[in-house]
Amino acid sequence: MKLQGLVVLALWGLSLAAVAADVNVGADKRQAVHVPSDVRTRFLTDMRGHLQQISDIQAALSNRDFLRAAQIAQQHLGMTAPESAACHMTEGMGMNMDDAGVKAFPRVAGSDDTEGEMAKYMPEGMHDVGMAMHKAADRFATVSKAAAATADYASALRALNQVTEQCLACHAQYRVVEQP
Ligand code: HEC
Repeated sequence: MKLQGLVVLALWGLSLAAVAADVNVGADKRQAVHVPSDVRTRFLTDMRGHLQQISDIQAALSNRDFLRAAQIAQQHLGMTAPESAACHMTEGMGMNMDDAGVKAFPRVAGSDDTEGEMAKYMPEGMHDVGMAMHKAADRFATVSKAAAATADYASALRALNQVTEQCLACHAQYRVVEQP
């Protein structure tokens, strides 16, 4: 009985330590990117779209539809996807661009003003990860198209993983906060 009590106490202590460790992990060290409310809403909408597209790509691969998987990647995640507008617009322009500058910059076909406006607020490092993600998506499309002939799932999944690695890299570093 005494021994059991000690074991229970020891387990309770361990679980408290685990909770304390969790609290530390929860400390948010990501860089806050301050953006207007509508820009944040648009950005997060595109983000939820990206998760949907990754899911759709997995579904297509599971149906052996390598070409469909490649098409989704190119249309929504690649360098010519409208969703890539914010990342393109930052390229070579740096931050703190004024409204006229943003309007004058060539748009990615199909993107809207609010998507492009994100360019004004995205730090250089975030822009770089974004571009790396769009480029990885185009590489995935190329690999997936080639895999259609060979049913080479391993190479398609490896290339898809290189896309999601960039999602993770950006999420680990940045968060978007509404401007006061
Ligand atoms: C260039 C940076 C960057 C890349 C690349 C990126 N994200 Fe995000 N994503 C963010 C940021 C910043 C947030 C907001 C996080 C916060 O404020 O807590 C976010 C939020 C999200 C959300 C939550 C949306 C919501 O409504 O709150 C999802 C889902 C998401 N991203 C999916 C993805 C997926 C899937 C990919 C890759 C295909 C991806 N993201 C690539 C920066 C990025």
